[in-house]
Amino acid sequence: MQNPQVDPRVSILKDISPLLTSVLDTDSVLEMIIESVTRLMEAKASSLLLVDKNRNKLYFQVATGEKKEEVKKFEINMGQGIAGHVALTGKPLLVPDVSKDSRWDRTISEATGFETRSIACVPITSGKEVIGVIQIIDREDGQAIRESDMEIMSHFSELASIAIERARTYKDMVNENIYLKKELESRYEIVGVSKAIEKVIADAVKVANSKTTTLISGESGTGKELVARLIHKIGPRRKKKLMVVNCAAFSDTLLESELFGHEKGSFTGAISRKTGVLEIADGGTLFLDEVAEMSPSMQVKVLRVIQEGTFNRVGSPHPIQVDIRVIAATNKNLYEEVHDGRFREDLYYRLNVVHLHIPPLRERRDDIAVLIQHFLDKYKTIRGTSNLGFTVSAYEVMQNYHWPGNVRELENAVERAVVMGSTEEIGPEDLPFSVVPSGDPAGELLGCTLKEALDSFKKNFLQRNLDHQGGSVKETANVLGIQRTYLSRLISKYGLTTKRNR
Ligand SMILES: Nc1ncnc2c1ncn2[C@@H]1O[C@H](COP(=O)(O)OP(=O)(O)OP(=O)(O)O)[C@@H](O)[C@H]1O
Ligand SMILES: [Mg+2]
Repeated sequence: MQNPQVDPRVSILKDISPLLTSVLDTDSVLEMIIESVTRLMEAKASSLLLVDKNRNKLYFQVATGEKKEEVKKFEINMGQGIAGHVALTGKPLLVPDVSKDSRWDRTISEATGFETRSIACVPITSGKEVIGVIQIIDREDGQAIRESDMEIMSHFSELASIAIERARTYKDMVNENIYLKKELESRYEIVGVSKAIEKVIADAVKVANSKTTTLISGESGTGKELVARLIHKIGPRRKKKLMVVNCAAFSDTLLESELFGHEKGSFTGAISRKTGVLEIADGGTLFLDEVAEMSPSMQVKVLRVIQEGTFNRVGSPHPIQVDIRVIAATNKNLYEEVHDGRFREDLYYRLNVVHLHIPPLRERRDDIAVLIQHFLDKYKTIRGTSNLGFTVSAYEVMQNYHWPGNVRELENAVERAVVMGSTEEIGPEDLPFSVVPSGDPAGELLGCTLKEALDSFKKNFLQRNLDHQGGSVKETANVLGIQRTYLSRLISKYGLTTKRNR
């Protein structure tokens, strides 16, 4: 027989409990908390507000009731109104008649036209810290909330706190895991024996101990990101995060919200508040990749972060202060970009306090052999054989190749050779850019005029080079040592395939 003293809602609470603590997605947990509390308390409306520590404010994360969308636009100060009071004191509060309580702030109720009689509000905590509050307004039947409702509300707030804590820990773990994986990838040390790479590493070590803004330049695939990770990893900021933002990968609006975060509704598509990379990297390092691709307006905003350490979330008038070390990278000549008016001079000087240039692989051929060995070691477990090696002629091909894609291309070539090769020796035929003559092209062209033979050769040769550069006219012109405009004329003359017309 059931004890008549026990509130029947306790058993509902017991049913909700395992459900709530099993959901690991933070947003879903918050939604579920509000759905559950509304059902449990038979409330007319309820809402969940979270504390924004940086700004000492509370904002509505989830709300129910007929005015829920309007309510979500409001923010309140810590200490303001019933919810602000509970957030500040950390103690549950029941106000059976709001009109008689001086702590009640009628602004929201009046602005939304939502009639409010009573409010019950309980804190959500993480350890000793109040991270938010849950508040309910009146009962469904229009009655005021009673003192006897508070006990169940308090139990519920404990349950909600546990559920949120679990979801947040889980989210942190997932993020940490992604971060550690990246770190692990970068563990592969920077391999090289050339004077040039040794100088880059020595300079990186020197600069790592300071907060000095550093610019890393070098062609695509030379190891700029690797060097940036090294600087972060061996410096005093290593326990905090290194966040990588590729400036070329975002539109202006998205880059701004990626870096600075945004408030809900600050632009189309900003459906919920977002914490920016700068806040996440506070105390750590921001790696701005492909920095030359940043628009002029973003350049101004980034300059402010470097100069003052402050920024505003998109849609917020309140500046946030952070302590960030900035490392930027580019495969362009940033000085030329300044000269041609595409990059701000003041930002250039701010970024370029220390400049590390990584020369292309073709200018440090001493590194090729050790890199081959390094990547062979990395990939040979795929083939399950420890005796895998390059033949002398394959080494020669690698040594003489011009490596437009630098170390990345070399790594891909080794990986491909390891996977595709059929014997324990990797020969030139296993390389993607084999220079072994394939048949006798002159023989195949017998009977043609010289002009026809030259045209046929040119057409094949150009197409092969274009394919090898992923269809990029710019890269192909570079490799062939001809003007881009000339190559474009040849492309239309011979009807060749490029990235653009593919
Ligand atoms: N010296 C090196 N030793 C070992 N691995 C290297 C070295 N340099 C580059 N790599 C590897 O080559 C690949 C490309 O390096 P990374 O991404 O750092 O180049 P990047 O200069 O940033 O290129 P991009 O301009 O295309 O972004 C990575 O897989 C990296 O681990
Ligand atoms: Mg890179």
